[in-house]
Parts: sequence; structure tokens; C-alpha cells
Amino acid sequence: MITRSLGSHGPRVSSLGLGCMGMSDLYGPADEKESIATIHAALDAGITLLDTGDYYGMGHNEMLLREALRGRKRESVVVSVKFGALRDPGGAWLGVDARPAAVKNFLAYSLRRLGTDYIDIYRPGRFNPAVPIEETVGAIAEMIQAGQVRYVGLSEVGADTLKKAHAVHPISDLQIEYSLISRGIEMEILPTIRSLGVGVTAYGVLSRGLLSGHWSAERSVAKGDFRGSLPRFQDENLERNLALVEALRSMANAKGASVAQLAIAWALSRGDDIVPLVGARRRDRLSEALGALDVTLTADDLARLEKAVPPDAAAGDRYDAGQMAMLDSERITSKPV
Ligand SMILES: NC(=O)c1ccc[n+]([C@@H]2O[C@H](COP(=O)([O-])OP(=O)(O)OC[C@H]3O[C@@H](n4cnc5c(N)ncnc54)[C@H](OP(=O)(O)O)[C@@H]3O)[C@@H](O)[C@H]2O)c1
Repeated sequence: MITRSLGSHGPRVSSLGLGCMGMSDLYGPADEKESIATIHAALDAGITLLDTGDYYGMGHNEMLLREALRGRKRESVVVSVKFGALRDPGGAWLGVDARPAAVKNFLAYSLRRLGTDYIDIYRPGRFNPAVPIEETVGAIAEMIQAGQVRYVGLSEVGADTLKKAHAVHPISDLQIEYSLISRGIEMEILPTIRSLGVGVTAYGVLSRGLLSGHWSAERSVAKGDFRGSLPRFQDENLERNLALVEALRSMANAKGASVAQLAIAWALSRGDDIVPLVGARRRDRLSEALGALDVTLTADDLARLEKAVPPDAAAGDRYDAGQMAMLDSERITSKPV
């Protein structure tokens, strides 16, 4: 497995990370045994970066990771944890809390659930406008001093917030959506990241399955699968987006790859500072995703991809209006270059 550095301040990790969210939440039912087998297969294939959030399944995802990591060397894996989202017992989203006291409280619970005495990368899942980012990052920096956290990460923040945070403590990576059809970071955020030596953990590289080649207009969305509420999966938007997938499919066929592999290979091609997080929750999906590491895109391939899926080709926003309004990264309307 090829490795990449998360910026100049973060750890070296496998060039693909495994995002575990869908194993506990948001994408409808998942099979716990298969989830654990998928994490084991990822580790055995050389994946060292595992991403979770304390609010994924309200602690369930961390407990699943604990189970999956039982018997493995703690230092062989880089665990990235997001915190801050508030939820009720039914899973409803109640807001965000990134006050220093809340940060320390969240961390205490995460350490217990994960069964570890440190978290590698700790990050607020969303920026809390009521709390200066300096205070949130300052609290994480204190926990680094205490040995309970190794690195500070951020998620879905814009360039200004990133700079303010980085001035308090070096940031290892920004976790943000980036794919062939979500390119908003290219205008301002990516250049800022690069000027600061911060890495990127890119999520939604398959646009949550839409770009995987396995989605279709006929696929029914299970109860609890929030993709049913995402604009890109709705009616005419879905039809237009699936037409883009078909354009990718013919390119993928010509390269002897699958659509998902082409989309992941594109993300990998965007720079050595970018580590795509794949959201596989089954071994077959993981194995397909790993195949992307063998797909080499030439300059000609990249130009043809750009033509088939221009930067603003997607129909619909990447989140619904309420969630878009919570994204610090969307406060400046970045237009792709
Ligand atoms: N910081 C943030 O705000 C944020 C937000 C979202 C996610 N994340 C993190 O990023 C990770 C990945 O995000 P994502 O789930 O949106 O990513 P994604 O890779 O775009 O979508 C993953 C989904 O695509 C489908 N899929 C089809 N073929 C696949 C293949 N070969 N490999 C992988 N998935 C395939 C699967 O759905 P089916 O199983 O239903 O087919 C899978 O659950 C999450 O697990 C989470 O850790 C972070």
C-alpha cells in the first residue's frame, strides 16, 4: 500500500482511508459482522486510516471500531474521530457544540468507547459559529499536551477558519467533500490548504454512492437512508446525474476499470496531499475501491474526464438547504476553477 502524508504536520497514512460512518448510520441498515470483516480486510490490505465520528450511530460506530481493533496493535492504525454534533435518542440532529468544556467531555467518552488512551486525529465535525475556532482548537491542543490526542483536524471549514485554527496549532488535515462532481474546494480552500501545508481527507469521493456505478433510478432508498433526502438523488437531478455516470462508465470500460475505481482514481490524481476516504461497508465494495490504486490516469484520460464531467456538471447541491447553511466551507461561494 502506497502511503501519503497528511500535510506537513500530520501522520503518514495509507493513500486510501476507510470511512466507517455507513456501518452505523445514515445509509440505512448495515450488517455488523460484515462491517467488522470489512474493517479487518481493510487493515489486512494495508489501510491504516480509519475515520469515525462520536455521533455516527450515537457512539455505535466507535464501539464497532473497538470491536474490530481488538487484538490489533493500537499503533498500527490512525484513528480519526469527529465530535460536536448533538443528537437526541432518536437520532435527530440538535445542533453543534464545540466549546472547550464540551470538547473535553466528548473526548472522555470517545476514549472509553474506543477502549484507547489516545485518539490520533481529533476534529470538530462542523464549525460552531457560537464558539471561536481558536477556543475549540486550543482545547484540543491542551489534550495533545496531556497525551490524549496526537493531531488536530478540521472538517468542512472555509479558508478563513482554517487559517485562524492553524495559527493556534498546526492542522494535520481538513476533511471535506471532494469528488468529480463536488469541486467547490478548488477555488479558495485547496490553495489555502496547500499554502499552510495542511492535508486533505476527501470524503464523498463517490458522492455517497451516486458516482459508484451501482446506483440506479430504480434503487429504492431504505428507511433511515439520508440519501433519500439529498438533492442530487431526487427525480430530475438524479436522472441528470446518472447520465454523467453513464459517460464515466464508457471511459471506465475502456480502461478496464469500474466507475467507482475511475472516480476514486481521479481523487487520488489530484495531489499527494489528498487521501480519499472510501465509505465501503462490505468487503466486495472495499475490494473494488482498492482496485482504484491500480488505475493510472494519463493526462489524456484526465482531460477526457474533465470534458465528460465538467466541474459544475452535478445537478443539485451536495446537502439539503438546512445542512448547506451549517457548512462554513460554503460561506464563500467558491466556484471551481
Ligand atoms: N466530515 C464530514 O462532514 C463527513 C461527511 C460524510 C462522510 N464523512 C466520512 O467520509 C467517509 C466516506 O464518505 P461517504 O460515505 O460519503 O463516501 P462515498 O465513498 O462517496 O460513498 C460511500 C457509499 O457508496 C457506495 N459504494 C458503492 N460502491 C462502492 C465502493 N466500491 N466503495 C465504497 N463505497 C461504494 C456504498 O453505499 P451502499 O453500501 O449503499 O452501496 C457506500 O456506503 C464516511 O464513512 C465518513 O467517515 C465525513
